[in-house]
Amino acid sequence: MTRLLHLSDPHFGAADEATARAFLDCAADLAPDFTVLSGDLTMRARRAELQAAKSFVEQLPHPRFVIPGNHDIPAFNQLFDRVFRPFRRYRETFGRDLEPSLRSGAVEIVGLNSSRGIGFHLDWSKGRLSPQQLDQAAPRFGKSSPGLRVLTLHHPLLAPPDHRRDVVKPLPPLLSLLAAARVDLVLCGHFHQSRIGVIGQDATWSTIVSQAPTVCSTRLQGEPPGFHVIHHDGDSLRVVLHRFNENRFVESGSLELYRDQSGWHAGL
Ligand SMILES: [Fe+2]
Ligand SMILES: [Fe+2]
Repeated sequence: MTRLLHLSDPHFGAADEATARAFLDCAADLAPDFTVLSGDLTMRARRAELQAAKSFVEQLPHPRFVIPGNHDIPAFNQLFDRVFRPFRRYRETFGRDLEPSLRSGAVEIVGLNSSRGIGFHLDWSKGRLSPQQLDQAAPRFGKSSPGLRVLTLHHPLLAPPDHRRDVVKPLPPLLSLLAAARVDLVLCGHFHQSRIGVIGQDATWSTIVSQAPTVCSTRLQGEPPGFHVIHHDGDSLRVVLHRFNENRFVESGSLELYRDQSGWHAGL
């Protein structure tokens, strides 16, 4: 049995300290095999925010896997930095690699950076992947799967219930990548809403998506802070949602899934 702790969007600069503390206590008790943080560590990559985020990350159970989100880029009033060196401060704090990889035991994790400083569209908070990123992602996974192949990016694949916000683009080649590389699980965030589901372009392969809510920020989208714990054992997997409720995190629902030759399916 392998357990992954998946959290997202702590947003230091708009984080609730008591919630962050309660989460760190809960994470220590859970003692997961891996901890994955899928971006938006800060509000605007201000130095004080990055230092608070760094202190938080250093208290997470390890091994830890961290990628940036669209809020980890300087704001529009720092246009030079935003356009020409959007991840400089993030890199100074968390290291140069914006797309890390990790393989340990039964789990292999590959990161993709879907956040952009600018783009040819009005809303620069939206997630994008380049053709080059998509082409190079599959070979980053090892030739043989260790048991669970995980892709981590900040922007989501599953639309929110009201369908008012866009998922990461372009989605079709990303789904082709998931099928070609036989990716078991995608970890993402950004909407600050918990969604757990299965996605697949055709009948050849289906992948689990864990979209974690914000773990401790005050930027709520109609639901309390929370996080996911993924329990994996061979061809069985369970994603458990934990919600903040009356000063502590409690289990608040789960989805059981099983794997066959065409990928992952929700259990009965
Ligand atoms: Fe966020
Ligand atoms: Fe975001």
